[in-house]
Amino acid sequence: MTQKIALIGFGTVGQGLVEILQEKIDELDERYGYRWKITGVCDNRFGTVCHMDGLDPEVLLREAANGSLQTHRMAGDVKQFLDECNADVVVEMTYTNLSDGEPALSHCRYALEKGRHVVTSNKGPAALHFRSLSALAKKNRVRFLIEGTVMSGTPVLNLMDGPLQGCRVESVRGILNGTTNYILTCMEEGMAYADALAKAQELGYAEADPTGDVEGYDARAKVTILANVVMGADLPIEKVSCMGITAITPDDIAAARQKGKRWKLIGAVERNGGDVSASVKPEMVPLDHPLAGVSGATNALTVVTDLLGDVSIVGPGAGRMETGFSILTDLLTIHRSS
Ligand code: HSE
Repeated sequence: MTQKIALIGFGTVGQGLVEILQEKIDELDERYGYRWKITGVCDNRFGTVCHMDGLDPEVLLREAANGSLQTHRMAGDVKQFLDECNADVVVEMTYTNLSDGEPALSHCRYALEKGRHVVTSNKGPAALHFRSLSALAKKNRVRFLIEGTVMSGTPVLNLMDGPLQGCRVESVRGILNGTTNYILTCMEEGMAYADALAKAQELGYAEADPTGDVEGYDARAKVTILANVVMGADLPIEKVSCMGITAITPDDIAAARQKGKRWKLIGAVERNGGDVSASVKPEMVPLDHPLAGVSGATNALTVVTDLLGDVSIVGPGAGRMETGFSILTDLLTIHRSS
């Protein structure tokens, strides 16, 4: 059966996903019997297009590059779009809002209520409302999958849910924001903070509003997701202490180097008896520590488990194809379980 996909948000990640789907069209069919069509795309800058027979990916990418989706254009709001494009899976990729999760939260809720699977890399709904959205998905016998919300396509959530199932996670600790790690790496090489941030934006690592990255809010959302998804907590994001990298100066970087250390923005979650606590803050890490060697937009996470001890995973934490891949892996999970 061909999986019908609707995309809400057609920015960097959405376009990366379409490029991957198109590039791997034969391979996905041969290896997994996975066939797909995109029945709709809704984007607040480019407009909304919808067609039951499937939209042409090359036309979508070309029209988006020209600033407006034109072919099979439709009017109406997101709910009308979701009703008309009749997709099996809705992929939510609008901008992350960590205050109330909107508008992504309403998109996810509506799609789940209508019995559509939802895949998202949007940290708003995942960090703020994971429990209620998962319950809604269960009630409607569909999936709510969020692999791309933490470490982009590097499989953290799926790792815990799959190969590491049966382990109890005692704590997690690592580098969870690509933009800040990239900026810190560039600053160590002598680049000014503003130039490094501009480069991170150009490379597609930063959020639409990069304040979320540099003030640590993005990493805070990710540790909240880890606490709630991987460690079974019910931790509100406001309870996670948070400090970003904006106060780190070139002098601080030089001082760390003199001590044989390097600044990293560290996210951590710990289980203390029945409680789970979490934090995000810059730390000076000794140069011989494994996290010190993780540079650029790369992320790393060490998961301390009861049965296997420490398990570490290092991989991309942001980027067009990297996050596009995270969506693909969730689409395949849905395909393989249906
Ligand atoms: N802005 C995020 C980062 C993107 O830099 O890690 C991936 O969540």
